[in-house]
Amino acid sequence: MRDLFERIIENKGPLGKWASQAEGYFVFPKLDGPISNRMKFQGKDVITWSINDYLGLANLPEIKKVDGEAALEHGAAYPMGARMMSGHTEFHEQLENELAAFSQKEASYLLNFGYQGFMSVIDALVTKDDIIVYDVDCHACIIDGVRLHMGKRFTFVHNDPESLEKNLERATKMAEQTGGGILVISEGVFGMRGEQGILKEIVALKEKFNFRLLVDDAHGFGTLGKTGAGAGEEQGVQDQIDVYLATFAKSMASIGAFVAADQEIINYLKYNLRSQMFAKSLPMVYVKGALKRLDMLRTQPELKAKLWENVNALQSGLKEKGFDIGTTTSCVTPVYLNGSIPEAMALVKDLRENHGIFCSIVVYPVIPKGLILLRLIPTATHTLQDVEETLVAFSAIRERLENGTYKRLSAAVSAAMGE
Ligand SMILES: Cc1ncc(COP(=O)(O)O)c(C=O)c1O
Repeated sequence: MRDLFERIIENKGPLGKWASQAEGYFVFPKLDGPISNRMKFQGKDVITWSINDYLGLANLPEIKKVDGEAALEHGAAYPMGARMMSGHTEFHEQLENELAAFSQKEASYLLNFGYQGFMSVIDALVTKDDIIVYDVDCHACIIDGVRLHMGKRFTFVHNDPESLEKNLERATKMAEQTGGGILVISEGVFGMRGEQGILKEIVALKEKFNFRLLVDDAHGFGTLGKTGAGAGEEQGVQDQIDVYLATFAKSMASIGAFVAADQEIINYLKYNLRSQMFAKSLPMVYVKGALKRLDMLRTQPELKAKLWENVNALQSGLKEKGFDIGTTTSCVTPVYLNGSIPEAMALVKDLRENHGIFCSIVVYPVIPKGLILLRLIPTATHTLQDVEETLVAFSAIRERLENGTYKRLSAAVSAAMGE
């Protein structure tokens, strides 16, 4: 028998193996200064394209004032205890009512985090007799939620209605045997590639199959749809989403999340959602902060308009210059390049050191081997000047990638890592 930690120390995992080359720079970087379009990285000014502060709320004085006043009045603790026991307040209820109205649902319930909360919602909605059918590219928290499920589950090919239909046929047969129901799961926006989930096509299948639809709209909430109610509103099917999930970690620039659905479903979740029943309730700082943020989403549509001005300028500029930005239909702007992980590291270093551009880099195993994904997140705080400088920088790094500069610069790393 071997000691449990032996394997962990030997094999740090597909990403962990890069730690000695990457930590502090490519992963776990430290960005300094107020959250905005321009911050500091290792003492240098950089244009930041890696922060999901879509509407630019994070650093607004009026937002920080509400957060600060709430912290002064309540501290970080209040209220203490789980919602069911002693952690309930009228502000939690007010926020839930306002979130329900904003997301065009009857009711909503607060979650402390999107990740744990969404897992727990999936767990609470199904029993071992029920079948889950979910998009294979769903976020890790959905995958982990499905892992909690004791019954059958099927994946469908990402955004492929034919594959979904085939799996719904299988699921229906199985549910007829078990006597359970079917939960279909997709995302409003797939956060890596920026594609909206095919919600309209999924909803159309309700004519043929009996299922309920759950949508994680982390990136769509506040950025898509006429009123900002998300991908469902954008596609005209918000009312057909049975369970709507969104986090405060993106457009709302905070921490926390919520689930919205029909009143009866929320009533059920209040008494069966383990992540909230057995955990302390969301502190007042976040509740009052969220009320303020939601008010701004409702009353200042110009924030979303500015966001989309920047999104459109960046995406059309990249396309005009011949960059492959995939099939994004949201603010998330991926740029796909061909190269190895060591080349990607040299390229990103060049972007940060010589061009003052800070964006996220995504490589294998998140995407296929040989592909480099530079992920840009435009926000309302960016300017057209930021976009222009970024387009110039991207043209320069593409040239160096293609003429082998990064291959030469990264030869030593490649040899050391056996890549
Ligand atoms: C699609 C998606 N779902 C869920 C989450 C988790 O949300 P939270 O950060 O509130 O835990 C994220 C990331 O924040 C996400 O991108």
